[in-house]
Amino acid sequence: MADAAELLSQMRVHGAVPRHVAIIMDGNGRWARERMLPRPVGHRNGMKSVRAVVEGAIEAGIEVLSLFAFSKENWQRPAIEVAALMSLLEEYIQREADELESQGVQVRFLGELDRLQGPAAQAVERIVAQTAHCSRLKLNLFVSYGSRAEMLGAVRRVVQDVQSGTLNLATLDDAAFGDRLLTTGIPDPDLLIRTSGEQRISNFLLWQIAYTELFISPVLWPDFGRRELYEAILDYQKRDRRFGRVAV
Ligand code: FPP
Repeated sequence: MADAAELLSQMRVHGAVPRHVAIIMDGNGRWARERMLPRPVGHRNGMKSVRAVVEGAIEAGIEVLSLFAFSKENWQRPAIEVAALMSLLEEYIQREADELESQGVQVRFLGELDRLQGPAAQAVERIVAQTAHCSRLKLNLFVSYGSRAEMLGAVRRVVQDVQSGTLNLATLDDAAFGDRLLTTGIPDPDLLIRTSGEQRISNFLLWQIAYTELFISPVLWPDFGRRELYEAILDYQKRDRRFGRVAV
């Protein structure tokens, strides 16, 4: 089986890497259950995969990496699991902030962040400020995020802007709507990976993935690393992206 370094050199031969890779990190719970361990242990091992994938993305020359870390719906999980995920987020930031800054990773958080509290909320603010000057890789962590809520927010902004006269409804187009989403200024993902074999989008970036290539990996997130990221990219490099047009 080819290792990550071999896959990386194959990728370089094949051509362009995707500019923006988005990942639905799934399967932490199943990974833990298979080992008769509590679910938070799966999430903790998932944190290691985040580190591996960030490093892999830097090496591959990816510009933007978006990770779905916690959905709006995840607030409905048992309080003990929500608390474990929030303290893991804080721990990740404590442990990785300096390293991410020295690697040139600009970290941003997208979602309903006013629902975060205490140490997790403070840690988020801190790492965003600390890495704001970095530009090698843009890492977007989606926390307390749901795409439908994001789009409803954009619709509200459109209505307000039309009412205040700063937007003409007749000229509303994809770009003007996109400018009112949380992802304004971020290019749409070229590749969306979902781990653990589930074939769902789960309310992630519904507007932004209109022409994104999808890759479903059977690997559970805690077992997903640089090698698996590169396999997905190699598969992407074989695709013929037509954006609804015909090949010329
Ligand atoms: C999905 O697995 C994963 C999550 C809900 C949380 C993702 C969190 C991490 C990878 C760790 C922390 C991340 C950061 C950025 C610090 P699941 O629990 O739905 O798994 P299951 O479908 O097997 O139950």
